[in-house]
Amino acid sequence: MTYHSYFSQMDMQRLPRHIAVIMDGNGRWSQKRGMIRGMGHKAGAESLRAATELCRELNIEVLTVYAFSTENWKRPAAEIELLFKLFSQYLDSEIKTLLDNDIQLVASGDISALPEALHKHLQQVMDKTAHCRSMKLNLALNYGGRQELTRAMQNIAVKVQKGELQPQDISMDTISSELYTAGMPDPDLLIRPSGELRLSNFLLWQCAYSEFYFDDVMWPDFGKEDLCRAIIAYQQRDRRFGAVGEAK
Ligand code: FPP
Repeated sequence: MTYHSYFSQMDMQRLPRHIAVIMDGNGRWSQKRGMIRGMGHKAGAESLRAATELCRELNIEVLTVYAFSTENWKRPAAEIELLFKLFSQYLDSEIKTLLDNDIQLVASGDISALPEALHKHLQQVMDKTAHCRSMKLNLALNYGGRQELTRAMQNIAVKVQKGELQPQDISMDTISSELYTAGMPDPDLLIRPSGELRLSNFLLWQCAYSEFYFDDVMWPDFGKEDLCRAIIAYQQRDRRFGAVGEAK
């Protein structure tokens, strides 16, 4: 049975426009196999490839993945270095696939604080794929939701200070437009594998009405079938956005 067999259970007219994923469980996946943590991250990159392929196949507009949080700097230097190396290898190996499939690579987070070589590499791939329109792959790198909101408020305060904006004109759209995700739809579906039930400072503003899907599978084992199951579960939810649902 391949993942395609799940397609018959999906309503292709009601697919999520934006899927966000907290790629968690790489460390535990490797520990269980007696491997170093880096092997889990490497396997996690394969899961990201599979998720990107499926999202493109289903015409999902945006896939956002939490690749490195502002809190991840607390990890041992060797693991951070390995992750950065992996990101760079991923950019090299994926650029062709991204272009061939018309996928734009974008980033959310303070990427200027990443090592210069990685920052440059990332910027190159973002520039090369800037014309791609079929899908956005949004890498959350050095990303924190509270940090993103703080930055947005600072930017808005500067506009007010300059007299470009009146405080009473600050709207929810003003705030959304100052976030890294400006112009993207909010995530409809947020997935966190590995059995953890937290948001961990991810997309705090954008996930106000997202449907949350938790799975015990570790991210390196999270394949296309698992993603199909998450989408099907999402479609079975009754999204009311605070209103009353349809009478059953
Ligand atoms: C969390 O798992 C995962 C990360 C901090 C890194 C995510 C990075 C990847 C999946 C690598 C591929 C990404 C790209 C962009 C190529 P964890 O290490 O906290 O797992 P644990 O909770 O089991 O320890």
